[in-house]
Amino acid sequence: MEKLEVSGGDKTRIYEVLVPQLISLTEGEDDICANMANIAAALKETFNLFWVGFYLVREDSSQFGKSLVLGPFQGPVACTRIAYGRGVCGTAWMEGKTMIVPDVDQFPGHIACNSLSRSEIVVPIFRDGEVFAVLDIDSKDLDSFDETDHTFLTMIVNLIH
Ligand code: SME
Repeated sequence: MEKLEVSGGDKTRIYEVLVPQLISLTEGEDDICANMANIAAALKETFNLFWVGFYLVREDSSQFGKSLVLGPFQGPVACTRIAYGRGVCGTAWMEGKTMIVPDVDQFPGHIACNSLSRSEIVVPIFRDGEVFAVLDIDSKDLDSFDETDHTFLTMIVNLIH
């Protein structure tokens, strides 16, 4: 694929045009880094988002023995490590569930990598029943994410194994 097709219409329609393109971009490729990079780029371009990227669970010398470490992303530079249970990403990791935050200022412990971010969605990605990464999306607008995003982004992260 040389060029991403971005549909008009409502959010559902835009995702419906995006998902088959992401399937064809990722299906012949088993490298996680490459697939995460293209998914981040496609989401950023499609929805003109502020920040889209992945954090991966990595072993380290922290108290928990593991942290989320910055992976492929599109947008401004960001925090490199997030502790278990910290911020929106660390909470999604700990709870193994998608976090939708309509106003980051109202989320206790939100990690402000960039003060321009106003709302956020974080989707955990599972392998063998365990979270091994999260997809994090930040918007400059309040209340940008809803159940439609949750549904389609869950489908999209399942393209990464
Ligand atoms: N805001 C996130 C940190 C990651 S950056 O937004 C890219 C959080 O609270 O986990």
